[in-house]
Amino acid sequence: MRASHLEDFYTFLRFPSVSTDDAYSENLNECAHWLIEKLTSVGLTAELVLTPGHPIVWARNKHQKGRRTVLIYGHYDVQPPDPLELWDSPPFDPVLKDGYVFARGSTDNKGQILSHILGVQEAIEQKSDLPVNLHFVIEGEEEIGSANLGNFLHQHREKLGCDVVVVSDTGMVARGVPTLSYGLRGVAALELKVIGAKIDLHSGIFGGAVANAATVLARLLATLHDNKRHVAIDGFYDQVAPLQDWEREMWKKLPVNSDEQILEASHAPALVGEEGYSTLERIWARPTAEINGLGGGYQGQGTKTVIPSQAMAKLTFRLVPNQNGDEIVDLAKKHLQKNMPAGATLEMTSGHSGTWYLTDPNSKFVKAAERALKKVFDRDVALIREGGSIPIVSDFRSILGAETLLLGLALPDCRAHSPNENFPLENLDAGIRMNQAVLEELAA
Ligand code: BES
Ligand code: MN
Repeated sequence: MRASHLEDFYTFLRFPSVSTDDAYSENLNECAHWLIEKLTSVGLTAELVLTPGHPIVWARNKHQKGRRTVLIYGHYDVQPPDPLELWDSPPFDPVLKDGYVFARGSTDNKGQILSHILGVQEAIEQKSDLPVNLHFVIEGEEEIGSANLGNFLHQHREKLGCDVVVVSDTGMVARGVPTLSYGLRGVAALELKVIGAKIDLHSGIFGGAVANAATVLARLLATLHDNKRHVAIDGFYDQVAPLQDWEREMWKKLPVNSDEQILEASHAPALVGEEGYSTLERIWARPTAEINGLGGGYQGQGTKTVIPSQAMAKLTFRLVPNQNGDEIVDLAKKHLQKNMPAGATLEMTSGHSGTWYLTDPNSKFVKAAERALKKVFDRDVALIREGGSIPIVSDFRSILGAETLLLGLALPDCRAHSPNENFPLENLDAGIRMNQAVLEELAA
C-alpha cells in the first residue's frame, strides 16, 4: 500500500461526518471539501452541490462521445460512534492493527468509496485517461435516508445520464470471496411517543391508579410480533414476493454463509428469527420490524420510584419486494393505534424511507462485473442479496434509468454501525484493482 493512499484514508476517516446529528454539520462540510480537493488533484472536475441538508460531491472526467458512461456512488457520512466506551481506540482517530484500520466509517463507506477514487487516480497516472465517461456522486446523507439526493438526480437528469451505476457499500460473504449483490432490502422509519400523565408521578402515591407510559409502550411494542416471530401487523406480508426456487438453490450452494458463520459474525448467543425460513432467507428476503431505540423513565444510577409520564421508541421496518414503504408505515400506524392500551396517548412520526432493490443477476452488466471480479480475486463470484439498504439505488433506476452493480468490499466482521468498525488494507487494495478491472470490462 502506497504511503500516500494510507494518508488519504486516515485523513478521510478523521472527519467525524455523523450525518444524523446537527452538531457535526461543519465536519460534514469539511469532509466534502476535502473530497473535492482530492478528486480535483486526481484530474477530475469536481463540484460541491449544496442541498438543504449536507452537500453532495459530484466529479467527472472529460466525457467523450461513443463511450460507456459509469456513475460511481458512495457516501462520506457515517453513523454515530456511540457507545464510545466500547471502542478500543477513538472512533475518529484511525489506527492500523494486523492489517485492519479501525475507525467509524472505515468500511461504511469511506474505505470502499476511497478505493474507487484511488483506482481512478492510479489509472489516470498510468494511462492518463479512463476507459469510460465517469461520474462520482458521493453524498453526505445516505445514513439518514438520502432525502436530498433524489432531487439532485432529477435536477441533473440529463447530465447524469449513464449506462450503469457502480456502488461498493455492501458485503463480501467472506474474506477473499468476490461478491455481487443483486438485491437490497428497503427501510422505513417510524418514531413513537407514549404520553401518560403530564408530569412524572410518585409511584407510591399514584401507582396502580394511572397508566405508566413505559408499561403502555412495552405492551404496545410486544404486539408487533406473534410468538412465531412473524410481524403481527395486518396486511404486512400481503405484497411480499415469495423467494424463487432458483434463488433458494443458488444460495444453498454459496461457499460460505453457514449459520455458524453468521452466528459468529453476529456475536449473538444464538440465531433466532421468523419461523419457517432459513437464516439467509430471513436476512435477505423477508421483511422485519425492529426496535432501534427505546426510552422512558429513570436511566441514572440507583433507583427512583417514579411513574414516567413519557416513553419513546424508534422503529424501522426492513422491506422486501414488492412492499411499499408508505403503505407499510400506514398499516403499522393503524395497528399501533388499534392496540394502544388505555390511559395514555400515542404520537407517531414517520421518518425516512427507502425502497428495496432487485436487479437481474444475468444482465450483461452483471456478467461484465463478474468477469472483472473474477480477474481481481481469482475466485468465482458469489451472487447474493443483502439485508441492508441503500435508499438511492432504486432512484438510479426510476430517475436515471440505470441499473446498479453492488460490488461490496465489507467483510462479515467489519462491525459497520458498531464499536470497533474496521476495514482491511487488503480490501482497500482489492478495491483499487476492482475499480480498474470493472471500468475496463464495462467499457468493452
Ligand atoms: N452500507 C450500508 C448498507 C448495507 C449494509 C448494505 C449491509 C448491505 C449490507 C449503508 O450505509 C446503510 O447502513 N444504510 C442504512 C440506510 C438507512 C439508515 C436509511 C441501513 O441499511 O440501515
Ligand atoms: Mn451504513
